[in-house]
Formats: sequence, C-alpha cells, structure tokens
Amino acid sequence: MGCFWCTGNSSNRSEKPTKKNSIRNDNSSNKNKLNDQTQASSDALKVSPYDSVKKEEATKKDQLSLDVKNLNLNDEVSKELAQSFTFEELAAATGNFRSDCFLGEGGFGKVFKGFLEKTNQVVAIKQLDRNGLQGIREFVVEVLTLSMADHPNLVKLIGFCAEDDQRLLVYEYMPLGSLENHLHDLPPGAQPLDWNTRMKIAAGAARGLEYLHDKMKPPVIYRDLKCSNILLGEGYHPKLSDFGLAKVGPSGDQTHVSTRVMGTYGYCAPDYAMTGQLTFKSDIYSFGVVLLELITGRKAIDNERDRSEQNLVAWDVHVPVLARPMFKDRRNFSRMVDPLLQGQYPIRGLYQALAIAAMCVQEQPNMRPATSDVVMALNYLASQKYDPSNPLLSSRRSIEASTVNRNDDKAPLAADQIKSF
Ligand SMILES: Nc1ncnc2c1ncn2[C@@H]1O[C@H](COP(=O)(O)OP(=O)(O)OP(=O)(O)O)[C@@H](O)[C@H]1O
Ligand SMILES: [Mg+2]
Repeated sequence: MGCFWCTGNSSNRSEKPTKKNSIRNDNSSNKNKLNDQTQASSDALKVSPYDSVKKEEATKKDQLSLDVKNLNLNDEVSKELAQSFTFEELAAATGNFRSDCFLGEGGFGKVFKGFLEKTNQVVAIKQLDRNGLQGIREFVVEVLTLSMADHPNLVKLIGFCAEDDQRLLVYEYMPLGSLENHLHDLPPGAQPLDWNTRMKIAAGAARGLEYLHDKMKPPVIYRDLKCSNILLGEGYHPKLSDFGLAKVGPSGDQTHVSTRVMGTYGYCAPDYAMTGQLTFKSDIYSFGVVLLELITGRKAIDNERDRSEQNLVAWDVHVPVLARPMFKDRRNFSRMVDPLLQGQYPIRGLYQALAIAAMCVQEQPNMRPATSDVVMALNYLASQKYDPSNPLLSSRRSIEASTVNRNDDKAPLAADQIKSF
C-alpha cells in the first residue's frame, strides 16, 4: 500500500522514543492502579466493568479481550462517537505499521499515521504496548472519556480496536504534531512559535480544560496536562489528548478524590504528589507549568541544566516572581522570556502571562485560580494581538482594551486581576 501521506511533517518531530518522567509505577503496583482505573471508568460513566462477568472465570487473556466488551463499549460507544475497527483494517491503514508512518512514541505505545479507505480519512493510530495491564485500563478510560466528550479543544476519538490482546486507538490526525515538538529541541531551521501563537495555544488548552472541569457530566480531572499532550491542528489550533489517567472529580461535599499518584514529573502538583489527594486545582498547577514553558521556552524538567535550574517552577516562579521584591523589578521578567522570541513580545502581555502562570503554580491549591478565571484571563491575553512591526501600537491597544474592560461590569475577574501587573 502506498504510504506517501505518512511522511507528513515528521521533519520537525522527535522520532526517538519519548518515554517520560512519568510517575507511572512499576509492575508491583499495577494491581492497585488497575483498581484505581477501574473505579475511574466505572465512576465516570456509571457502568460496571465486570457487570456480566464472573471474575473467577476470567483468565488473563479473557480479561484482555473482555474488558471492552464488558464495559459495553461496543454498545455504549459506537452509537455515540467512536467506531470499532478490526486489527486488519488498522494494519492496512498504516501499511502494516510501516516505519515511515511512525509519528512518535509515548509511555504506552507507538503512534502511526494512517489512512482509512472506507471513510477516506487520515488518522493517527496509537498501538498500546501489549505487556502490562496498566495500559489496558488506561485504554478503557480513554475510550470512555473521549466518547462522552465533544469540544473543539479536545482531540476526537474516531474509534478503537480491541481484538484478542491488541488494543489500538484511532484519533483524528493533528497535522502539526504536539506542542512539545514546537517548543523544545527544535531542529535547525525550524521556525519558533511567535508570541500570538503561544497565547492562542494557551487559551485553547485552557478552554479544553474548562470543558472537562465545568461542562462535562460528571466533571473530569485530566491528570496528564503537559506539552506533549497538547496536539496542534491547522493554524496551531490546540487540542488536549490522552485521557487514560482521567478521573471523575469529587462530588457532593467531597473536596478531593483520593488516588494513587500518577502523572508526569515536573507537571504534577506538589500537594497531589505528597498526599494523593487529587483536585481540579491539580490540573491548574499543570496548566501553569505549560504556560511557563510557553513563555520561557524551557522544559518542565531539564536535567541538562544546573541543579538550581532543572525544575522550571522552582527556577522561574518561586524565586523571581513570587518573591515580591523580584516581582516588582520587571527587568527580571525579560530574562525569563524564551530567547527564541528574539525580543518580539509585548512587555505588558509578558507580565500578565507570567502573573497568570504564577497564580496557577502556587503551592497552596486553594490559592490557584478557578479554571473559568484562567480561561477568561487567557482569552483576554490571546485577543491582545502583538504586532512585531508596530510593538508600541500593540502595547497601547492592550492598555486601551484594559481600560475598556475596566469600565465593563462583565469584565472577567481574572483579566481584572492581571491588569494590575
Ligand atoms: N492525533 C495525533 N495526530 C498527530 N500526531 C499525534 C497524535 N497523537 C499523538 N501524536 C504524536 O505521537 C507522539 C506520541 O504521543 P503519545 O501520546 O503516545 O506520547 P507522549 O504524549 O509523548 O507521552 P505520554 O505517553 O507520556 O503521554 C506525540 O508527541 C505526537 O507527536
Ligand atoms: Mg500523549
């Protein structure tokens, strides 16, 4: 099968395996994690994974092939948004998982570009590693969460394959790859993201998060917000992806969900990492880290830097921003901004973006802003277009817009807050 479309824009992708500093534990803890994930999926969608299975009858192979059936995925999901594919169909779509269709690899398996003849559609197909049950549970949570979700800033799940011990997920293809590919370790000659695009991506990612937190029923905590999980479509339209770690948020009087700590080092909120108490504010912390990466161009964790600078939050925020004397000295801010921007950013926009990021990564979860406030603040920032050919004018427009908003009763709370910077 011809696979000319598979080469895509892989030139600016990292083709090497990208195993992350995931707080994903060894096999010994898999059992607990599975229980955790089973709970997540059943909580999320009010279905019991084992409704019609006598547990004692299930061998491992049975379990692998039954987990989807017994969650009634075929019944519950295919009617809605996702379809079920055979392994043969997906093998054909990727030229038998040819290396020139390879898009990247994460902690759970390889991702390939494919073409579905029957729908005439270009897709991305993630083939989960077959060793270990942890990925299986995440597969189920991913399918269930994405089948219930529908938002322009969440990646669309087209379908899945659960045949024997094969588990594959079929997503809409995101032609510009992940944010990580555009922010870090750029290949020579690659164009860095400009300021306006960075703010657009931040605002879109925040809207995706707001949908999960405030619009989905039941509300969902994402738990895996990071640059590699923000995928980019035409015009750098961002969409959140990878919902295998998602958990249903606390309900009723509960303030948190107690759960095994999962996620990725550098993005995981310190309170959650220390106590296992997961809240919506854990995602806000991760969002703050992503925003800092967008502003500074630095990685959340960079082992190649000096010890004091390896952790972005420790370097960037706790020292220069939250320490008030440093914060007041705005000269410190310009040394934080990504040098690849080559000075092309609005000073005021930089202060405001840093202020939002600093609020999101506060150590105390209750000091972090609500998701809707983050969205309002970033929508506002993204609307203040920076014009590199006329930076003074952009900055004046930004101030005028602030003044207009200040007189508007409906001015967003967070936007009001950030105007003071
Ligand atoms: N829908 C998609 N369209 C285009 N490329 C994709 C798509 N999904 C994933 N990719 C590519 O595949 C790479 C690997 O994705 P994957 O989600 O497996 O790993 P990751 O996000 O890097 O790590 P982790 O497993 O920790 O989430 C991504 O960085 C991206 O470049
Ligand atoms: Mg991912």
